Amino acid sequence: MKVLVLNGPNLGRLDLRDSKIYGDLDFAALTKLIVASGIEVGIECDVRQSDSEVEMISWLHEAADQKIPVIINPAAFTHYSYAIRDAADMVSAPLIEVHLSNPMSREEFRHTSVISGVADGTIAGFGPDSYRLALIAVSRMVKS
Ligand code: DQA
Repeated sequence: MKVLVLNGPNLGRLDLRDSKIYGDLDFAALTKLIVASGIEVGIECDVRQSDSEVEMISWLHEAADQKIPVIINPAAFTHYSYAIRDAADMVSAPLIEVHLSNPMSREEFRHTSVISGVADGTIAGFGPDSYRLALIAVSRMVKS
């Protein structure tokens, strides 16, 4: 089984972001960990990152057209992108929202997710394990 693991703006620069919030893995190391976690549960992860809303939307269209499950960390798009929400809503396969940090324990503008309402579930606050937990959830959802 293949899963698209989509990552939004600034996640490609994790090495430059606050390590107290995002940990100390850079994006390449996070990608390796996600791929390895996928193999553990029999999932092939296609991990992508973009700072562009247009590109994120085109990847969600690809998932919708090909019925591919999605794990998405929309990053800052989480809090305001209705366009990404609408694209995510077209994905009929499982779609899980993930965050490295717990946005609910941070600034108030992060308390709103416009994506959660169209996701099957949200996993936040566990660092890279948020992705691992999402992979377990997707594999169970697809099997059941
Ligand atoms: C994030 C949380 C968002 O609020 C933030 O804009 C990010 C990363 C996370 O993974 O914790 O860029 O999605």
